[in-house]
Amino acid sequence: MKQAGHPRFVTFEGVDGAGKSTHVGWFAEMLAARCGVEVILTREPGGTALGEALRSLVLHRPMHLETEALLMFAARRELLAEVIEPALARGAWVVSDRFSDATVAYQGGGRGLAATKIAVLRQWVHPLLEPTLTVLFDLAPEVARRRIETSRTRDRFEAEDEAFFVRVRDAYRATAAEDDRRFLVIDGSRTVNEIRKRLEEIIASLCC
Ligand SMILES: Nc1ncnc2c1ncn2[C@@H]1O[C@H](COP(=O)(O)OP(=O)(O)O)[C@@H](O)[C@H]1O
Ligand SMILES: [Mg+2]
Repeated sequence: MKQAGHPRFVTFEGVDGAGKSTHVGWFAEMLAARCGVEVILTREPGGTALGEALRSLVLHRPMHLETEALLMFAARRELLAEVIEPALARGAWVVSDRFSDATVAYQGGGRGLAATKIAVLRQWVHPLLEPTLTVLFDLAPEVARRRIETSRTRDRFEAEDEAFFVRVRDAYRATAAEDDRRFLVIDGSRTVNEIRKRLEEIIASLCC
């Protein structure tokens, strides 16, 4: 087992329909098996009882943009306190389907909330913690939309128009370009098997 005090926090990001949830469970299991570590899998918004209640509000109730951003960070604060911080403290790894980069992309890029306001919340809620690695599933919004259309009922975000998702995608790509040591960008248009192979390589690089 890896020693405690060596935090490992992996996040998956990307527009709705990019393929995160398809791979995240498999990734967490493979990481645990290959690296011989404890891996906690979680998701945002949600991941705690309170967070899941907040999730259903932000995904389905109309609200002011700043309320939306505050609720995302409220759910995140709870997830950090209940799940992420204790897991990292005992030496476990954490894999999360979305984290703060999603607020930058959706509430910032998508809805136009000032980056300075998001930065204040980020500094407040997790001043010392950022993911060790963020895997960005990059996919053209029109392809992502076609995938979602056939597979599920859309929530408040998924119901947004294509221009919204173009802005979200652009914000994700800009964040990844600014921090290419933390981000790995995966071409989400590849097949599930091709993406799995790429993720296997990533896991192999994480184990050593
Ligand atoms: N590489 C892929 N090629 C084709 N379809 C995919 C691929 N990855 C995921 N899908 C399908 O696209 C839909 C959205 O995938 P999902 O993993 O739920 O996306 P996300 O969690 O990023 O919103 C699902 O129906 C899934 O089966
Ligand atoms: Mg998903």
